[in-house]
Amino acid sequence: MKVVILKDSDSVAAYGADIFVKHINKKPNAVLGLATGSTPVALYKKLISAYSNGHVSFADVSTFNLDEYLGISGDHPQSYRYFMNQQFFDHINIDKNSTAVPQGDAEDPIAACEAYETDIKQKGGIDIQLLGIGRNGHIGFNEPSSSLMSRTRVKTLTRATIDDNARFFSADEYQPHLSLTMGIGTILETKLVVLLATGESKANAIKAMVEGPLTASCPASALQMHQDAVIIIDEAAASKLLDIEFYKHIEIENEKLKERLAR
Ligand code: F6R
Repeated sequence: MKVVILKDSDSVAAYGADIFVKHINKKPNAVLGLATGSTPVALYKKLISAYSNGHVSFADVSTFNLDEYLGISGDHPQSYRYFMNQQFFDHINIDKNSTAVPQGDAEDPIAACEAYETDIKQKGGIDIQLLGIGRNGHIGFNEPSSSLMSRTRVKTLTRATIDDNARFFSADEYQPHLSLTMGIGTILETKLVVLLATGESKANAIKAMVEGPLTASCPASALQMHQDAVIIIDEAAASKLLDIEFYKHIEIENEKLKERLAR
C-alpha cells in the first residue's frame, strides 16, 4: 500500500485525477472501475476539466461502477446510474454504451451479478479502480463481515451505512436497504486501486485499513493484499495513523527516485 498524505481535499482530488489522466493517455481504451458517494465528485470535476481542456479523451474508455441500490431503476434520481450520468458521463465524450452500473431493477439480481463478473472479464479486467471508504471500513457495499474473497453479489446494507447515506434521501423517500456490489475478490483483481478519503470522519477507517489487522471487520483492510493500491488522503483522514512521518518520508524518497530516473 502506498499512502499519500496531502494537505486538503482539493489536493486529494487533483492527485487522484492526475493518475487517471496519465493512465488513460497511456492506454486510451482503459477499463475504469468507478465509485459514487461524495468523495469522488471533486475528482470527477477535475477529469471533466481535463477533458474540456483537451488533456484527455474518454472516447475509447469503458467503465464499471462498483455498486447500485437494489430495487430502483437507472432513471431513479437516487440510483447510482443517475448519479454517474449527472456527475460525470454527461460531461465527457464517453460512449454511454461502454459504461456499466449493476442493474438495480434486474428481474434476476443474482444472474445480473454473475453477468457483471463475466462482462468485466470479457473486457480484460479493470485497469484502475477508484474507491471511497465508508466510516465502517466498507469498500463498494462490502460491509463488515463480507467475505474477503467475495464476488459481485446482493448485499444487505448495515444500519451505519443506511444512516450515513440517509443524507442523500428526503425524509419521506424510499431508501433501499439492499445493494448489488462488486465483491472484495473482484476489487482485489483490479490492476491498480486508487482510494480517496477526506475528513476526520474517515480517520478511524483509514487507520484500521492501513495499520490494523487483515480482517473482514474492516473490509478495506483486504487492500493490504492488493499488489498496487494507492491511498490518497488529507491530513484529517490521516490524523489517527501512527506512522504518518514514515509515509511522508516514503513519498519524498519516491519523488527523489523518480527525478533521478528521469535524468
Ligand atoms: C460508492 C461506494 C461506497 C462509498 C463510501 C464512501 O460507490 O462504493 O463504498 O465510496 O460509502 O462514501 P462517501 O464518499 O460519500 O463518504
